[in-house]
Amino acid sequence: MIELNDIEIRYGDYVAVKDVNIDVKEGEFFTFLGPSGCGKTTILRSIAGFIKPYSGNVILEGKDITNVAPEKRQIGMVFQSYALFPTMTVFDNISYGLKIMKMPKDEIHKKVIEMANLVEIKEEHLKRNVSELSGGQQQRVAIARALAKDPKLILFDEPLSNLDAKLRKQLRQEMKDIQRKTGMTAIYVTHDQEEALEMSDRIAVFNKGRVEQIGKPLEIYDRSKTEFVCTFIGESNKIGKELLNYINENSSTVKFDSNKNHYIRNEKILLHPLQDRETVKVKGKVERLMYEGAYSHYIINVFGSDLTILQKNDSTTNINLNEEIDLYINPEDILEYEV
Ligand SMILES: Nc1ncnc2c1ncn2[C@@H]1O[C@H](COP(=O)(O)OP(=O)(O)O)[C@@H](O)[C@H]1O
Ligand SMILES: [Mg+2]
Repeated sequence: MIELNDIEIRYGDYVAVKDVNIDVKEGEFFTFLGPSGCGKTTILRSIAGFIKPYSGNVILEGKDITNVAPEKRQIGMVFQSYALFPTMTVFDNISYGLKIMKMPKDEIHKKVIEMANLVEIKEEHLKRNVSELSGGQQQRVAIARALAKDPKLILFDEPLSNLDAKLRKQLRQEMKDIQRKTGMTAIYVTHDQEEALEMSDRIAVFNKGRVEQIGKPLEIYDRSKTEFVCTFIGESNKIGKELLNYINENSSTVKFDSNKNHYIRNEKILLHPLQDRETVKVKGKVERLMYEGAYSHYIINVFGSDLTILQKNDSTTNINLNEEIDLYINPEDILEYEV
């Protein structure tokens, strides 16, 4: 639906984005995930047309739009700062683009009501000034404004990052619902890995202007392709040489290359063996307990180095400080990377 082919973007001599190849499908919720400064906004702005790539092309529905002006691209954008007109009413903000398009008044009215319903803004709030609304409500208005023009594609640049944690979580699902209802193709930018995993059909993980991995949330998490992806997403332990050698000696199925780096996710270190797959048993000493209600983190010393494990708390978990316990590792859960 939208293709980025070999995109490179520069600011002067500085290469902000390089070798980006992404093909977003019709109706897909696609996320650009990466730390601050990795080029997410830059590439989004090149899709919207505000920045011209140094090289490469942007293809929308098979048509090369690399040199098409932003207002002719039929692409909507929602920003982190809502970028609304603060002195105008909610109605005037949502209808702003429609007036410019010279849509007839009664159609505008119908469209604004439809959009307000979609993003769950009460009709009586349409007459209010946007500055009277809470941050969450203002972001709904910004989404309604972007969707009103029936764009082919909508771009979100960290739209939830100015909101408090609770509202952010609630709006994630609401935004997914809006996207599903409209069937709109969406590109969503965030530095929040949890948000990306929860909302996306597919994710592109960015690091320093380049794509490290593209995949479904589960693939990105379970089969992180690079060390950067593995450490940026979720929590994991780097496996020390002694533990790695021990696993190599005690596993009949998998052998690891001790010249590479190895990781295992916290929750993949188990307190009980698996029935249907091989697990290697290893002894450790409990150094720290961190009770967090539904879950606990434990720091366990194994061969002189610390492993952090994450366990769901239930009536059977009984782990005490300084206790010697058995841990179980399925070698297939170990991720191996070139140094
Ligand atoms: N207008 C600009 N001029 C020069 N450098 C810029 C400009 N905008 C962004 N950059 C630089 O490009 C890199 C990517 O920035 P940006 O796309 O904003 O990253 P992100 O959105 O992932 O935080 C950063 O190093 C940033 O400092
Ligand atoms: Mg940004």
